[in-house]
Amino acid sequence: MINKAIILAGGMGTRMSPLTKAVNKQLLPIYDKPLIFYPLSILMLAKIKDILIIVNKGQLNQYKKILPDGKRLGINILYKEQSSPKGLPDAFLLGEKFINNKNVALILGDNFFYGQNLTSKLINCTKLKNGAKVILHKVIKPELFGVAKISKTGKIISLKEKPKKYISDLAVTGLYFFDKKVVEYTKKLKPSLRNELEITDLLKIYLNKKKLTSDILGRGGAWLDTGSIEDFYKTSAFVSAIENRQGFKIACLEEIAFNNRWIGKKEILNAIQFYGKCDYSNYLKKLIS
Ligand code: DAU
Repeated sequence: MINKAIILAGGMGTRMSPLTKAVNKQLLPIYDKPLIFYPLSILMLAKIKDILIIVNKGQLNQYKKILPDGKRLGINILYKEQSSPKGLPDAFLLGEKFINNKNVALILGDNFFYGQNLTSKLINCTKLKNGAKVILHKVIKPELFGVAKISKTGKIISLKEKPKKYISDLAVTGLYFFDKKVVEYTKKLKPSLRNELEITDLLKIYLNKKKLTSDILGRGGAWLDTGSIEDFYKTSAFVSAIENRQGFKIACLEEIAFNNRWIGKKEILNAIQFYGKCDYSNYLKKLIS
């Protein structure tokens, strides 16, 4: 079982400068809410309540203004600062105490997931006992991501980080589920040529032990990586189109907490007061009316 997770929300956001000079990328808006709400909502949909958010050194206060400690959402949020971007597996070194020898999920702070049956898929992933599990999604430009080649029966055969030569069009998305061995294996990793610990190298350890499984987010689902300014606008347009058509919000954290019965009407009213007069608050009002 997995009931704790890490959100990796640091990084320099260099590709989005000057937007990211004063504000961390994960606090910039995707349509009507900060980017960090979206990966956090994914963990909450997976019924994970124990969350460690890793942020850049010096940016903790920015995050605490919008997500203090999770009490308002009926969850537990802890923070840890990363001194510099040392690579995705650094999350497991920084989070060793938080992980406390338990299974753990990792989601990248700039990843966006959406789709029918996503919640049941997520809950299924949290049932992992041993090994590691990744979510794969078909993309047009696999060279931009970690990529997995799978067999006819759906087993992962090989993995490559940002392959220059085509091996497959299945990207490894930024949502990972690991057993408690993850800290021990991370300690064995060596930095890559770009001087970072690579998540693909960590996954390869599980693959070599035949302990890596995968699930595919099919064409009915959307996975967007908000790495560039262009991606930010595209993802915002996606959220706006869905929300304004259906009248449901994507990644309304209080709505998910309310539906999970982690909070009640009182907390929703507090949230309305906290956000003030805005469209998000109007949505929350409708939720409890
Ligand atoms: O988005 C999925 C892809 O994410 C995977 O397919 C790749 O295998 C994986 O390596 C990763 O690739 P990226 O090049 O997109 O990772 P990036 O360096 O952009 O970091 C992703 C997020 O994690 C971003 O929000 C910043 C944050 N981050 C990154 C590093 C390296 C940190 O907070 N600390 C870090 O040390």
